[in-house]
Amino acid sequence: MALDLARLRAETPACEAVAHLNNAGASLLPRPVVEAVIAHVRLESELGGYEAAVLAADRLQDARSALGRLLGADPLDVALTQSDTAAWTKAFWGLALGGWFDGGGRLLVDRAAYNSHYLSLLQAAGRFGVTIEVVASTADGSLDLDDLDRRLGGDVRLVTATHVGTHRGLVNPVAAVGERTRHGAVPFFLDACQSAGQLPVDVGVIGCDVATGTGRKFLRGPRGTGWLYVRPEWSERMSPPGLDGSSASWLDESRFELLPRAARFEEFEASVAARIGLGVAVEYALELGIAAIAERIALLAEGLRDGLRSVGASVHDGGGQRCGIVTFTLPAVAPEAVKASLAAAGIHVWTSEALSARLDMEQRGLPAVVRASPHAFNSEDETRRLVEHVRLLVEHPPPSGGGR
Ligand SMILES: Cc1ncc(COP(=O)(O)O)c(C=O)c1O
Repeated sequence: MALDLARLRAETPACEAVAHLNNAGASLLPRPVVEAVIAHVRLESELGGYEAAVLAADRLQDARSALGRLLGADPLDVALTQSDTAAWTKAFWGLALGGWFDGGGRLLVDRAAYNSHYLSLLQAAGRFGVTIEVVASTADGSLDLDDLDRRLGGDVRLVTATHVGTHRGLVNPVAAVGERTRHGAVPFFLDACQSAGQLPVDVGVIGCDVATGTGRKFLRGPRGTGWLYVRPEWSERMSPPGLDGSSASWLDESRFELLPRAARFEEFEASVAARIGLGVAVEYALELGIAAIAERIALLAEGLRDGLRSVGASVHDGGGQRCGIVTFTLPAVAPEAVKASLAAAGIHVWTSEALSARLDMEQRGLPAVVRASPHAFNSEDETRRLVEHVRLLVEHPPPSGGGR
């Protein structure tokens, strides 16, 4: 069913003031999310944080259940975390401390890998004698499944893949990765940080063993929230770092026991208000329907790509399937200057620097790109304003444009 744009915008009051096309950075919170967060902060101010948390226990459970519905997972296999990176590293180092990398082996990673994930791989490579192998990309930039096939088997200990990179709008064929690792002895970690909330992410359909994401992007939750899904066969083998009384039982002077399933990845101290807000954001997205959101975002993003090309921008997304991340550069204006000029006109975009996704961006010789990322609540008028502003920048580049 088509979305009601007027309703979406009314529920996103900031739409009146700015054209927010930075939803891949951090989106605008819908009103029900803001209200839920504020209500809990108020409760904390009236009762004290611990007492308020007791009253809110069901709402945290609701957040896990909503994420379970979003991901097609049992809520017992979903942990609430503070970010995508916190989620990913809990699972990754959980495998390491569980002994999974003892004896070395190969870790396969795609070229779209985000910096915080790859940095952990590098840390591990220095410690356990594991080696990193980067899977090639096809000519259109997608993960190359033939190259993956050539590398799988033998001493591979981990496969990691990015559903949507931070720095370009192509959607990787992650279900085809899952087909290859499913039933296998190797865990498949999916980075769903940029896809959750704008595309369907069903862990059963994709066949991943771990999936991670953040609250603030296309899910439109508060900052400081994230989530982690781990298939139970794998959570039982993970001994995550950062244990406390909410993830493990301290049995006696020499023994502890990890809680079962995803509970072992959670931490006691967190913003309860933000976690409640994340749950409400996920429920909000589910109520609109992820398919309807995806359809509207795709419409806006493809229109934006066409418009940007028509005024002389180079669009860098590639891929067979694309999503709501639209990346581009201009011939004579640096990405940072494009962002600043647009911001001065009340249009929010961001830039992606090579250091955020170094493997892919360096290979393509891109030090930085401008990233525009519409969400369902954005209007065609906003994307038109962006294109028009870019046209002016192409036709009249500022003297200090700073190259590309
Ligand atoms: C593709 C991708 N993966 C992982 C992350 C890390 O997310 P977080 O900052 O919540 O740790 C990001 C953040 O931009 C991202 O774009």
